Amino acid sequence: MERPIALITGATSGIGAEFAQQLGRSQHDLVLVARDVDRLEAKAVRLRTDFGVEVEILSADLVTDSGVASVCARLAEPARPVTVLVNNAGFSLVGAFERNTIDEEAAHLRILAQTPMELTHAVLPLMLARGKGQIINIASVSAFIPRGTYGAAKSWLVSFSRFANLRYGPKGVKVTAVCPGFVHTEFHERMGANMGGVRSWMWLNADQVVREGLADNAAGKAVSIPSRRYATLMALSRLVPDRLAAAAGNRGR
Ligand SMILES: NC(=O)c1ccc[n+]([C@@H]2O[C@H](COP(=O)([O-])OP(=O)(O)OC[C@H]3O[C@@H](n4cnc5c(N)ncnc54)[C@H](OP(=O)(O)O)[C@@H]3O)[C@@H](O)[C@H]2O)c1
Repeated sequence: MERPIALITGATSGIGAEFAQQLGRSQHDLVLVARDVDRLEAKAVRLRTDFGVEVEILSADLVTDSGVASVCARLAEPARPVTVLVNNAGFSLVGAFERNTIDEEAAHLRILAQTPMELTHAVLPLMLARGKGQIINIASVSAFIPRGTYGAAKSWLVSFSRFANLRYGPKGVKVTAVCPGFVHTEFHERMGANMGGVRSWMWLNADQVVREGLADNAAGKAVSIPSRRYATLMALSRLVPDRLAAAAGNRGR
């Protein structure tokens, strides 16, 4: 029997690497996308050995037109249709909006919002024609609180996922925005953020985020907030003034 194919952006580290692990374990063939070819190759060797699945690698910079176009081309290939798309690659900017250059802000907005939109647009025709598909967009709890342009971009992704799940869910294509809190990955180190102010109970592990995200997508939910503690916090955040919610989100910066 043919294995389903999952394409994961940002698959070399953190949450994306964990998606590759869990989807490989459940016998999906994989397409791993990121910029670092050596890391992509090393991951691919490991996943083939551990799970006996086929693994393609695709090196692409997802803030460039050519990088995004190469992934769109793979998503539109009818001979090897992708059935699971995980829009995960991303980064955040440590500086304040008014001090960042507009080029930095534009690249940040692109990878967090425009790129997932373009990849979704590329994969949808084949998914709709086959009447099945899963699209998982990694957003953040920052989507629900005032948290700079990072939170604003993640809000766009949540809103987009809610619309897309309503429209395409009944046609067999389930779309979910997964909204984690703080997760142990390379994200904060790459950003150059000091995370000393974040209490230990606020940290999640990527395996839980991915497990719950996949389960919520399978259940047809448009929004997934991994862990009961963050689901409770987000419900409470709707009741407090913006400045209190923003202060919690700004820990570690
Ligand atoms: N960690 C958290 O606390 C947290 C919380 C909520 C949401 N998130 C979201 O989770 C997602 C994954 O982040 P993570 O925490 O797993 O971070 P991470 O460990 O830093 O991984 C980021 C991944 O994205 C890839 N990437 C970065 N820039 C790229 C580019 N220009 N083109 C292609 N790939 C690129 C990286 O690979 P290369 O460098 O090889 O390209 C890497 O595989 C992000 O969307 C982030 O916003 C993270």
